[in-house]
Amino acid sequence: MHKLIVANYKMNGDKSTYLSIVRKLNKVKVSDAKIILCPPFVYLPFFKIKKHLNLGVQDISNSVNNKSTSQISPKMLSEFGVKYVIIGHSERRAIYDTDIIVMEKVKVATDHDIIPIVCVGEEKKSHKIDILVDQVTSALSQIKGKSIIFAYEPIWAIGSGEVPTVSRINKAIKVIKDSANSLGFDVKVLYGGSVNGDNYKELLTSNADGFLCGGVSLKIDEFVEMIKGIDNE
Ligand code: PGA
Repeated sequence: MHKLIVANYKMNGDKSTYLSIVRKLNKVKVSDAKIILCPPFVYLPFFKIKKHLNLGVQDISNSVNNKSTSQISPKMLSEFGVKYVIIGHSERRAIYDTDIIVMEKVKVATDHDIIPIVCVGEEKKSHKIDILVDQVTSALSQIKGKSIIFAYEPIWAIGSGEVPTVSRINKAIKVIKDSANSLGFDVKVLYGGSVNGDNYKELLTSNADGFLCGGVSLKIDEFVEMIKGIDNE
């Protein structure tokens, strides 16, 4: 089955960074992997991408009320060809996104045919992964029969250079899939947190359906090599 590779550019880069990234990624030959690029909103117009690439963003409004200063609606995103949205990234959960807001954002996105990539994960390495059950159950509680992707992103692994063992990733994926299945959803689960050109081959031996990549997505040559390696698996 094809792997998903999601680039979460966070609040990095500038216009020239993205023009160069798009130029390079447009030339990559991909036969099987699905690549989803999630730039900051303001750079969306510079993502003139070829068919093998897909567009996502890093957030969406939880409101459909147009009295929402600063917020971005699903209709606006669709106008730019956005098909995916990262929801509940731990950097968002830390400042604003509660489980309820995540659930509302999932509903807004799916109501407008934008596929959510919902991030879930425990905070510390010493923590149990039971928290995933609540995060998944809550995120799915207002929708039915929609396509949805989860990303297992242990917070302690994000940007730290440390990754969980394959067995811990597999355990987390099972918890996420079992929780979703019990609500009637068949979901894909990505792994995210310090994925890079050195560790992705080992991480590929896990049951993850792909990766959510932060830092490495900006190191374009390493990222392209990773895409090729994953595509050839
Ligand atoms: P990282 O970030 O790959 O830089 O650890 C992943 C993420 O925050 O989604």
